[in-house]
Amino acid sequence: MLDTSSHPEHPMQGIPQPTRDQVLALPRVHISQHPVMAHKLTALRDRHTAPPEFYRLVKEIGELLAYEATASLALETSETETPLTTMQGYKLAGGIGITPILRAGLGLAEGFREVISDAQVWHLGLRRDERTLQALEYYNRLPHKVNLQVCYAVDPMLATGGSAIDAINILKRRGIPRLSYVGIIAAPFGLQNLVQAHPDIDVYIAALDESLNDLGYIVPGLGDAGDRQFGTF
Ligand code: PRP
Ligand code: URA
Repeated sequence: MLDTSSHPEHPMQGIPQPTRDQVLALPRVHISQHPVMAHKLTALRDRHTAPPEFYRLVKEIGELLAYEATASLALETSETETPLTTMQGYKLAGGIGITPILRAGLGLAEGFREVISDAQVWHLGLRRDERTLQALEYYNRLPHKVNLQVCYAVDPMLATGGSAIDAINILKRRGIPRLSYVGIIAAPFGLQNLVQAHPDIDVYIAALDESLNDLGYIVPGLGDAGDRQFGTF
């Protein structure tokens, strides 16, 4: 657990962080190389982008990330009738789950649902205490019946990694066969912590940034992803 007790007003002060280069080759980490992603991400980071446009961009980035993160899903054959004949087609083998980590994961989850409209949405509320940087669970609507082939925990910001690690711990207790984390921007510190805690999951992100500042915010980052989506400054 992160020890922030010596500087509660500046919880990351004095805590060593890895560099980008030190985490770039971590296994099972996928960093988008798509030019459209880079274009939308720049607009998202812009401090002048207002909440309605910000939310729309998060959702569109969620669609692109969903496309990348679902590329290795399992299929099963499915006979189908076209207007001309009968053929053997495919359907996804087993259900798909999306767990938006509230609040900021909501926009990303909307993007995922544009790509996989029949995905189940398992809401999980985690809030980061800004002094200790520990994640606190405040809402959990995860069903007990699991019939998924994979569940994606989605949250735009991977900062210290505390929220993502806790979310995956909670999902693992539900016995889902395969889990992935999907985020927009990661700090090297959070990415390293998540991969160390959960080496058995895939991690999909749009960008890997430089570091966390003393307050635990990602730099260059985009600020507070929840506040910017929902206009709560
Ligand atoms: C933000 C973000 C992540 C978390 C990341 O949420 O959306 O959930 O912080 O930080 P971590 O990697 O250090 O845990 P926040 O707790 O601010 O809540 P919100 O979504 O309600 O804004
Ligand atoms: N949460 C955010 O919304 N932004 C950050 O930079 C870090 C955590």
